[in-house]
Amino acid sequence: MLTIRELAPLREALAAWGSEGARVALVPTMGAHHAGHMALVEAARRPGTKVVASIFVNPKQFGANEDLSRYPRKEMADLRMLSEAGCDLAWLPSAEEMYPAGFATNVSVSRVSDRFDGAARPGHFDGVATVVAKLFNQVRPDAAYFGEKDFQQLAVIRRMVADLDFAVEIVGVPTQREDDGLALSSRNVYLDDDERARAVALPRALGVAARAIARGDAVEDALNDARTALAGAGFTVDYVALADAETLIPDPAPDRPRRLLAAARMGATRLIDNVAV
Ligand code: PAF
Repeated sequence: MLTIRELAPLREALAAWGSEGARVALVPTMGAHHAGHMALVEAARRPGTKVVASIFVNPKQFGANEDLSRYPRKEMADLRMLSEAGCDLAWLPSAEEMYPAGFATNVSVSRVSDRFDGAARPGHFDGVATVVAKLFNQVRPDAAYFGEKDFQQLAVIRRMVADLDFAVEIVGVPTQREDDGLALSSRNVYLDDDERARAVALPRALGVAARAIARGDAVEDALNDARTALAGAGFTVDYVALADAETLIPDPAPDRPRRLLAAARMGATRLIDNVAV
């Protein structure tokens, strides 16, 4: 696996692959890799495709009171995992490479960014859209792979790609889960043993609510039951909502693809999850 930290050698490597006729697939990450990231690499691997994984802890998507300095960083282990998973190139730009002095551009995707995590974390999705737009221009991938766990992020990126005519196929990869159902997340390491045991209430509450809504129970009752179950497990609920899977507008028509989304805090750790309805 090649490991590249500057744009000029990245472009050389990509040009060499281009002259061989290779397709390029991008897996953008912020490191702290776990099996969920490796599932993205696995999904991206195809005959004739070169897989590029980026590792960049993007300061623009962290709010002033969020955990940028605390965000887990383990580059050596991340690179080993990528190499073992069959990644061809690790792209590790520095903050100066990504945001050189004078950087003044912001990519803002309105409406789909407005609610849920967008409301709870002002500026977060602008930071995500800006860095992903830059990664697309740096790597020029034919396809890019994102986890469905960050479902609103995936919807924001799909909207940005459609609106700005990026020639890249966006592939959503199903959420990877622990045996008890908890979604894999780089933030799970912050949970102590007791919090970890109680955190399973999140996927369970979403599963119960999704089944209730699918069989025709009143949506508000199902959402309220989920909120009650989460509070009972010790979560502070941020939101539990049913939304259109493409626009993320709440109260979608039953004939539209729908997504049940939740965010809740267990102690100091904010967890998100979502399921299809
Ligand atoms: O999902 C993530 O890890 C990040 O939000 C992403 C897409 C790599 C952008 O920094």
